[in-house]
Amino acid sequence: MKVHSHIFFAIAVLFALASLAGCRAKPAGKGETNTMNWIKHHVTVGGKKVVNPVVATAANVDAGKHVFGYYCVECHGRDGQNTGVPFAANLAPPVPSLASPQVQSYTDGQLKWIIDNGISPSGMPASKGILSDEEIWQLVLFIRHLPPAGSLGEPRAYTGDEYESTTTESK
Ligand code: HEC
Repeated sequence: MKVHSHIFFAIAVLFALASLAGCRAKPAGKGETNTMNWIKHHVTVGGKKVVNPVVATAANVDAGKHVFGYYCVECHGRDGQNTGVPFAANLAPPVPSLASPQVQSYTDGQLKWIIDNGISPSGMPASKGILSDEEIWQLVLFIRHLPPAGSLGEPRAYTGDEYESTTTESK
């Protein structure tokens, strides 16, 4: 039948296009990235209902910024937005801007969980046992109060106390 073969052809073309799109997914195509995001937000990342017990005072946000300047800066930049991290986009998965909706749409408890456990098998490390719960909650506060992109300058090679001098003043 004519009509049927047309439909069959159309379906075959759709499959061919779909598999072509599949081949391009390296680095992850948009659809794939969105699916991973959905899975993380709704399935794999825990702590969704856990409330941050550390109050968002300027001092606590600043403490988070300080810890961030030591433990997170090399991959996320001082501003959490990849400023001065040339390889951020080349990792698979890439290092996201922490100001992006992808990250900000996590609950506080989920951000804590991510920092506690890291994200395997990406480069995002686990901090549980290295940082205290209070420090990790302060990091969550800093992520919620990120400074404008680029405003803190670029990270430099760690040499001891150099971050101290530029991260102690409050914003
Ligand atoms: C060695 C590099 C590296 C360091 C150090 C690092 N991260 Fe990450 N981070 C990554 C990568 C890579 C990702 C992307 C992970 C993914 O999407 O699977 C990421 C993702 C994240 C995310 C978002 C997760 C998501 O699902 O979108 C948060 C929040 C985060 N990091 C916070 C931190 C904090 C806070 C620190 C410091 C305690 C830190 N990171 C240290 C590499 C790093």
